[in-house]
This record gives sequence, C-alpha cells and structure tokens, in this order.
Amino acid sequence: MPPSLLKSIQSILPPTDMDKKKPVKRPRMDAPIGARSGPIANGPMHARPLVALLDGRDCSVEMPILKDVATVAFCDAQSTTEIHEKVLNEAVGALMWHTITLTKEDIEKFKALRIIVRIGSGVDNVDIKAAGEMGVAVCNVPGYGVEEVADTTLCLILNLYRRSYWLANMVREGKKFQGPEQVREAAAGCARIRGDTLGIVGLGRVGTAVALRAKAFGFNVIFYDPYLPDGIEKSLGLTRVYTLQDLLFQSDCVSLHCTLNEHNHHLINEYTIKQMRPGAFLVNTARGGLVDEAALAAALKDGRIRAAALDVHENEPFNALGGMNGPLKEAPNLICTPHAAWYSDASSAELREMAATEIRRAIVGRIPDNLRNCVNKEYFVSSGYGDNMNGASGYNYNPMGVPHSTTLEPLSSGVLAAAAHSTPHSTLQDAANHLTPKPESSEVH
Ligand SMILES: NC(=O)c1ccc[n+]([C@@H]2O[C@H](COP(=O)([O-])OP(=O)(O)OC[C@H]3O[C@@H](n4cnc5c(N)ncnc54)[C@H](O)[C@@H]3O)[C@@H](O)[C@H]2O)c1
Repeated sequence: MPPSLLKSIQSILPPTDMDKKKPVKRPRMDAPIGARSGPIANGPMHARPLVALLDGRDCSVEMPILKDVATVAFCDAQSTTEIHEKVLNEAVGALMWHTITLTKEDIEKFKALRIIVRIGSGVDNVDIKAAGEMGVAVCNVPGYGVEEVADTTLCLILNLYRRSYWLANMVREGKKFQGPEQVREAAAGCARIRGDTLGIVGLGRVGTAVALRAKAFGFNVIFYDPYLPDGIEKSLGLTRVYTLQDLLFQSDCVSLHCTLNEHNHHLINEYTIKQMRPGAFLVNTARGGLVDEAALAAALKDGRIRAAALDVHENEPFNALGGMNGPLKEAPNLICTPHAAWYSDASSAELREMAATEIRRAIVGRIPDNLRNCVNKEYFVSSGYGDNMNGASGYNYNPMGVPHSTTLEPLSSGVLAAAAHSTPHSTLQDAANHLTPKPESSEVH
C-alpha cells in the first residue's frame, strides 16, 4: 500500500490495543435473532462501528449521513491486499464502487464484516453467495441511475443510426462538405429508425426504460428475458420472444440490459453473432463480460456487425483499447465510453446518499429486516420485526412488484434515539460492541 494511503487511514484510526490482539472473530449469525440486548444507555456510545469505503477517497456525501453513528474510513484500494489490517479486523460495514472485486477469499479477510453495500446496482463484483454463507449481508442501490443509463443507451443507439459522433469528428478534423456528394460519402451508413426492430436483452429497470424511450423514436421493440412472468409484454405494449436466437434473428439493433451472472458470460460470442442479422448494430451499457470482445472485433472488421457502442468493457477500470493486443483497438465503427452511463450530478448524489443510508439502517436497525435492498436475504433469518413491506419478505427479483422506495429516511436524532432503545443483537452496533472500545471517532472530511 502506498505510504500516503497508509497514512490517511492511520490518521483517522488512532492505534489501539487492537493491533496487539488476535483478529476479532465475527459474531455468530445463529444467535437468536429475536433476542434483545436490553436497554442501551441513551448517552455517548463507547464503541462506534467502523464503516470503510473500500475503493475511493471521497466520503463527503456519506459522512453527514453516518457521522453520528459510525467512524468512516476510506481505503482507496483496488484489491484487498491494499486494505489496512485495522480495516480488515474492525470494519463492520463496507461501501464499494465497482473498481474492486470481493471474492470469497477477499471477504474471509474481513474479521468483523456484517454488511457490504455496493454503490451501484450490479453486484457481479461481489461473491454474494459466499458473503451470505459467512453472515455478511450484501446490498445494492437499484434504480438510482435508471434514467441516465436509458438516456445514454438511446444516445448511443441514435449515434449508430445517425452517425453523429463520426460526422462531428470529421468536421473537427477539418473535412470539407461542399455539397450533397460529400455529405453522402461522409454519412454513408446513416439509417432510418422508424420501422426498424430494436431487440432488448433483459427487461428489468433499465431495459424497460429503454423500451419506452425507443418506441417514441419509431422502433418496433422486442425483448428477451426468460426470468419474467407472462403478461409484462401486454402492459408495456412490447413484443416478447422466448429465445435469444429469435431476438438476434429479428433485431436490426441489439441492446444488452441483463445482469451479468454465471449463466450469461460472453452471451454475445462468435456463435451468437452469426445468429444476428447481417449488418446489425450492437449496444452494451450493461456489463462488459456479456460480450466476447475478440469476436466483436472480428465481426466489426468484416462488417457482420455494422457498428457497435460499448459503455462497459471486459477490462475495467476503463481499458477498452488495452495495449497493443487489445482486441478492439483496431476495430472500425466502434464508440467506447468509460462506464459512465449511470452518471449525472443528480444520480451520483442520490446513489451515494442511498448507499450510506442503507449502511445507516444496518447500524440503527436490524439485519436483514431493516435493509431495503439486501440481495442475499435468503441467508438470513428474518424476525418479522421491522418489515416495512406489508409482510413481503425474502429477496425475489421482481421489477414490477417489489415496492422499493427511493425516499431517504429521516436522519433526525429522534430516529437514532428510538433505534438505540430497541436495538437487538443483530445490528452493527452490537457487532462493534464486540470490538475494543475506541475513542471518539476521527472523521474523514
Ligand atoms: N453502464 C452503467 O453505468 C450501468 C449503470 C447501472 C446498471 N448497469 C447495468 O445495467 C444492467 C441492467 O440493470 P437493471 O438495473 O435494469 O437490472 P435489473 O436487475 O433491473 O434487470 C436485469 C434483467 O435482466 C434479466 N436477465 C438476467 N439474465 C438474463 C439473460 N441471460 N437473458 C435475458 N435477460 C436476463 C433479469 O431477469 C432482469 O429482468 C445490469 O447489468 C447493470 O449492472 C450499468
């Protein structure tokens, strides 16, 4: 770890006797979930839970939400080998972007961890099954940037059809357009949208938002999503197909919006590209692992795919064109953006607030009952307390049915005081109480 990072962590976490002791064992998850710890004195807390931002430095949004209930540290790490021992031993909560991966072995290194919150919606960089087996809840923040990703997807689709990106570059490079001949030559390949078929793979939050937008542009929209029940196509006025092959066969433009999981790595590969219409477009704003980039590069070179736009890449942080051997380096008719589809000032602030608020819910409430977006809830026993979904429990993906609210909970001292009086065993505060008491928190500003 660079000395500056070590220093930054040390500066916010003064050394304690912890350093000399054996790593603290994670509290047992099979403790009676309904058991209560008895009244907690309504005064200063002796042990404050440590929450660590693993792959970033800026905690300015998270701090105001967490500072009265936790000590917040940042690690700015790209792998767990760069994370300070103190965080590995003491952190009960972890916040993470998508620039770090937590495998089973990585999660095992954390001795006190109870909750991981992905600052984003995809959880493909966390082994959520292993986490669940170790009693670590994993949460995400679905929905924060649905509109941004959908708008970016349409922006990319429009660029492939209208070639605005390449035409703008020609103007910037000084190409002369003196008449229709030059325009025709430069704009060759520009296509009409109305009547073309857009095939959406994965009709979740983003896929649905893309479908609704695309209809307004005149696309005939079809989708493939084997995990959705019948009837959604009717409510949204879309055409459903039941195999990927059908979708690829019928689509003039294919747009990927499924999650990356163990079943669909390289969903678009040499074989499935051959099932696409000759000269079709491909857009991927979902996950880089869905596309075999070497196969895509070959298809772009020989024109089987006319043009493609990728916001996500097999190698991230952004390195789409890689070194000399990057398969897409020489590929023509390709637009790459740096996994930025989700970003707007508004969505970024909302995302970070929602992630920090989920950690806060774990500290002042119960795991998993008070968590709003726990993706491995099936590994935990719910007490039935704190169920704010009218009896619905367990995480089942159901984009049309789960009443997730994006409203932030009030952060008044009243909420905290009420929670402090009724906090049961399975809270981060309890986990922290197993650790060596620390002095008042030093905060990152
Ligand atoms: N580029 C960005 O900045 C950015 C931002 C947010 C989300 N994303 C990605 O966008 C994608 C969609 O996000 P979302 O919030 O709409 O997710 P979601 O969970 O709401 O929807 C995903 C859908 O994909 C379906 N699906 C899963 N596997 C499939 C398969 N093999 N074939 C067809 N459908 C399949 C699921 O049934 C689900 O309906 C995810 O991959 C997410 O990681 C990217």
